[in-house]
Amino acid sequence: MSVAVVSPENVVIVGAGTVGFAKGRALLEHGHCVNFVDSSSTRRGELISQGFPCDEGVELGSTSSLIFVCVPTPASSVGYDFTILRESLEHIGCKLAASVSRHVVVVCSTLAPRTTERVVIPTLEKFSGGAEGEAFDVALVPEFIRTPHALEDSRAPWMTVIAARRNDVRSRLTAIFEPFGGDIRVTNESVAAELIKVTHNAYNAAKISFFNEMNRLAAAVDVDGHFVAEVVSRSAEGSTNPNYGIRGGSAFGGACLPKDLDGLIAFAETLGVEVPVLEATRWINQSVAAETPPPVTS
Ligand SMILES: NC(=O)c1ccc[n+]([C@@H]2O[C@H](COP(=O)([O-])OP(=O)(O)OC[C@H]3O[C@@H](n4cnc5c(N)ncnc54)[C@H](O)[C@@H]3O)[C@@H](O)[C@H]2O)c1
Repeated sequence: MSVAVVSPENVVIVGAGTVGFAKGRALLEHGHCVNFVDSSSTRRGELISQGFPCDEGVELGSTSSLIFVCVPTPASSVGYDFTILRESLEHIGCKLAASVSRHVVVVCSTLAPRTTERVVIPTLEKFSGGAEGEAFDVALVPEFIRTPHALEDSRAPWMTVIAARRNDVRSRLTAIFEPFGGDIRVTNESVAAELIKVTHNAYNAAKISFFNEMNRLAAAVDVDGHFVAEVVSRSAEGSTNPNYGIRGGSAFGGACLPKDLDGLIAFAETLGVEVPVLEATRWINQSVAAETPPPVTS
């Protein structure tokens, strides 16, 4: 598969794992010049044996490159561990210092909100000796691919988010991702892109947990929970209308939602089935209702 490209970019992919390899390969197929970098000799060997260039360190040419950072950012209940991210940024910073050209560091790794401001930019500035926005630029393109479909999703993304402070950087990244299709959302706020990515994952996790909770309740009354979930995924407005409930700052009300939520929580209690997602839903709704000004009535 190969697609004609108007202006090929020099692309360096740092971290040629699931995300980096899929992104790099999709960019290669669009005619860009892509070099992979990976710290693992095993991974480098795998890519080289498949005919892809893969080095241990970043090599920057005399023309501007887009350096995509796709290294792991593990997290646990105590928070994110950015050790690997910092190490790769330190290395990239040293390479920026030695280069005569101005490059764009594009972070694709998942970051906690404010990591670009607090870790990415300060580390690159310290190790390059230059200022972001003057000596080099930083952008974010958070990744939404599904691991088992990494290449197929990179070839045909349904959503691409691009964040960069400078307009010319946003335009340059938009130009390389537009040919892939799908929606593109652009912002000048890195924290918005960081929050979109973690909200995206939390939304999927919350939806899965909701139906797991309902599955337990269904089992307690001897009903096939998959049948319930399958029907509700087509009956509930929250599933069929992409705008329904997609907002913040106002509580739900009306004749049915608060009453039937109370009723279902009480029913689950009679069966001894714990429903923490439903309880959290009620708690959040009550706290949002308490802070929302009541509607003006004449
Ligand atoms: N896997 C997914 O489906 C997916 C989807 C969305 C976002 N993400 C995010 O993307 C990032 C990368 O995830 P992944 O699944 O591709 O990880 P991965 O473990 O598959 O690949 C990471 C690669 O980086 C290499 N690496 C580690 N340290 C390095 C360093 N200092 N320099 C160069 N290479 C280094 C590793 O050898 C490995 O090949 C993470 O932040 C992850 O949360 C992953």
